[in-house]
Amino acid sequence: MSKILVTGGLGYIGSHTVVELQNVNAEVVVVDNLANTTLDVAGRIQKITGKPVTFYQVDVCDTPALEEVFEKEDISGVIHFAAYKAVGESVEKPVAYYQNNVSGLISLLHCVKKYKTKSLVFSSSCTVYGDTKESPITENHPIVEAISPYGTTKILGEEILTDFTKFCDTKVVCLRYFNPVGAHKSALIGELPLGVPSNLIPYVTQTAAGIREQLTIFGNDYDTPDGTNIRDFIHVVDLAKAHVKAVDYATSNPISLDVFNLGTGVGQSVKEVVETFERVNDLKLNYTYGPRRQGDVEQIWADASKAKNVLGWETEIELDEMMRSAWAWQQTL
Ligand code: UFG
Repeated sequence: MSKILVTGGLGYIGSHTVVELQNVNAEVVVVDNLANTTLDVAGRIQKITGKPVTFYQVDVCDTPALEEVFEKEDISGVIHFAAYKAVGESVEKPVAYYQNNVSGLISLLHCVKKYKTKSLVFSSSCTVYGDTKESPITENHPIVEAISPYGTTKILGEEILTDFTKFCDTKVVCLRYFNPVGAHKSALIGELPLGVPSNLIPYVTQTAAGIREQLTIFGNDYDTPDGTNIRDFIHVVDLAKAHVKAVDYATSNPISLDVFNLGTGVGQSVKEVVETFERVNDLKLNYTYGPRRQGDVEQIWADASKAKNVLGWETEIELDEMMRSAWAWQQTL
C-alpha cells in the first residue's frame, strides 16, 4: 500500500486507523489541528506499532497549509476523518459545523484534484438515515432529511463527493459508521472526551470512575423489548480495520463512488449495554431512567452484508470486549 494521508489522524477513530495502516506496512502521513486530541497520541501510536508517525499540525480548512503537505509528500490516498462530530453541539453551533465540516472537505478536494490523488475514504455516519424504524438498514435506504446540522454535513459531504467523482478520476468510498466504542487493547489510545460526554460509553465509564455521579438512561418507554433505545455498537478497532480494506478497494475497484455501512449487524439496547458493562467489569453502575433525549432515533442497526461481501470485512470483537476495553482505557485517564 502506498502513502496514505489521514486527516484527523490523532483523533479517536483516526488514531486506531493509523495503527491498523501501519500494521499492514502502509506509509502514513497524519494531519491534525489538535482541536480534539493531543500531540502525545502520535507517540502512543508509535509505542503500539514501533513505527514513527509523520505528523503535520495542520487544519484541513487551511488550504495553503494542506497544499504544502501534498506538495511535500507523495500522497496516493486520503482517509478523511477531520471534522466536528458532536450531534448536540451541532444544534447549538450549526454554522460552525457547516463551516468546519463542509469547508474542510472542499479544501481537501482542492488538493486531491490538484495532486490527482487516486482514492479518498470519507467518514460518514448512519445519521444520514435520519429518523427511521427500518432496521437492519441497508445502504439503499433513502437519504431524506438530517436530524441535526452534524447529520446535514455528512449528507452534504456524500453529495459533494458523488458530484466530484463525475468530474475527477479519484475513487471515493463513503463509510457510514454506526456507534463506535471501546479502545485499543494496549489501552494506549482511546476516546478523549472533552468536558461532559454526550455519548453513552464515555458517560458510563466516567460514572464508573466517579467523575460523574450518575448515568441517566434516556427513556425506557420506547417500543423496544426492554423499552430503551437500540443501537449497533462497533469496536473502534474493527472499524479501523474496515478503513484499510476500503483504501484497498477504492484503489482497485472500477466504481467511482461506493458506500458501506459499518456495524456489527446486531442491535443492542442501552440497558443491555449498561448491564454488560457491569458484568464484564464486575462493578455496579449508579444509573437511573430519565426522559427521552430529543432527537434520538428509537432503534437503528446495520445491515452490514455489503461490507462483508464486497470489502471482505466483518466485525470480530463482541460487546463484552468493547465494554472491557472501554473501562481499561478510562482507568488510564
Ligand atoms: N444515552 C443515554 N444516556 C447518556 C448518553 C446516551 O441513555 O448519557 C443513550 C442515547 O439516548 C442513545 C444511546 O445511548 O439511545 C446512544 O447514544 P450516543 O449519544 O452514544 O450515540 P447516538 O446513537 O446518539 O449517536 C451516534 C454517534 C453520532 C451519530 C449517531 C447516528 O455518536 O455521531 O450515532 O445515529 F450521528
